[in-house]
Amino acid sequence: MKVGIIGSGGREHAICKSIVKSKKIEKVYCFPGNAGTADIAENIKLDLENFENIKNFVLENKINLVIVGPEKPLVEGLVDYLEKFNIKVFGPNKIASQLEGSKIFTKKLCEKFNIPTAKFGIFKTKIDARNFINNSNYPIVIKADNLASGKGVYICNNENEANSAIEEIFNGKFGKAENLLIEEFLEGEEMSFFIISDGKNIKTFETAQDHKRVLEGDKGKNTGGMGAYSPSRLINPELENRIIKKIINPTLKGLSELGCEYKGFLYAGLMIINNEPYLIEYNVRMGDPECQTILPKLNTDLIEIFLACCDKKLQDIKLSWSNKKSLCVVICSKGYPDNYNKYVEIKDLENINLDENNHLFHAGTEKRDKKIYAVGGRVLNCVGLSENFADAKKNVMNNLKKLDWSEGFYRKDIGHKVLK
Ligand code: AMP
Ligand code: GLY
Repeated sequence: MKVGIIGSGGREHAICKSIVKSKKIEKVYCFPGNAGTADIAENIKLDLENFENIKNFVLENKINLVIVGPEKPLVEGLVDYLEKFNIKVFGPNKIASQLEGSKIFTKKLCEKFNIPTAKFGIFKTKIDARNFINNSNYPIVIKADNLASGKGVYICNNENEANSAIEEIFNGKFGKAENLLIEEFLEGEEMSFFIISDGKNIKTFETAQDHKRVLEGDKGKNTGGMGAYSPSRLINPELENRIIKKIINPTLKGLSELGCEYKGFLYAGLMIINNEPYLIEYNVRMGDPECQTILPKLNTDLIEIFLACCDKKLQDIKLSWSNKKSLCVVICSKGYPDNYNKYVEIKDLENINLDENNHLFHAGTEKRDKKIYAVGGRVLNCVGLSENFADAKKNVMNNLKKLDWSEGFYRKDIGHKVLK
């Protein structure tokens, strides 16, 4: 069969590498992909905002399944659009994608279905928001409602910081803001929890811990993710049951009351406090870099899983995982998450050791005349697997030493909580 993957990050390269292993696959197209996917699939440059172009390409090239990696096309309704033309698509529809597209939609759902989450208020004007923070305890969390690539969240330690967050959000830093969210600060440890759903049945899809801050010691600005390890050190059967019962099931029930079935990956960003889960946010896709960290442990054919999801036959699939520990370090362009240089050549990639315990996934890379250039903020993902986290990290570090790219940087402390 022929498959199309929408997206160009490390997540999409990991998905691509996983599905090309399947006997079922005849050809994979990546829209637009990166230098990594170019080696194992065909990259197609298309304007992803133009759904009609995507649809035309899919129909003309007889693509049997489209997999949507990132949130933006999901939130904008690409799945609904393609399904109108009888195209099989893996990913949630526009209504379900509100779980990520609108933090207020999710908070209201939490309220209605008693889903544990931080206490919150919704504010429509600067004045109301400022009046509220006058009487608050700190820290406090202020969030833009819309999609902001992980950047629309401010953890404010005092009234000054809170005031400037309110200014920036209402002045449109993350797009037109009709309201903002102020939340209680939850103190605990974060976990990324994934399930896959076909609309009727769900299966858990492993856990991970992401490292969102740009600097070592979890300091500095928030990023899309600087590294991850899997499984999370926090997960245990009791906690998993609580997450499903208190968070995932009521969410899916809430969506079904809106007449909506959830098909695809669902990523719950959780704060765990004394083995109790609280929902921080939902994402309607796999995490990045969690996907790169988790997929190398999957033994089941990923394309069979996607097809079962689209055909509502997930109950027939048994997910099988390796027991190994996995750790991923993201290598970024110097300056990320702010400004960085583009088109810097990365050399010596061919020296990287690749086998079942060593993976390299590309993100912001482009191939030109057989040379690889860094073109994005997050550029490469180096993943190591082993029986324990220490050896998994050694695998990663041995490979990173071989890389010749002076304009890149990475956090050397990924996994510090499990490596003490
Ligand atoms: P979000 O985009 O909502 O996941 O927020 C980004 C990051 O901000 C999260 O991964 C947390 O580290 C932090 N965060 C968000 N909301 C809260 C909260 N209520 N309490 C503590 N930390 C939070
Ligand atoms: N790693 C965080 C995210 O994918 O949103």
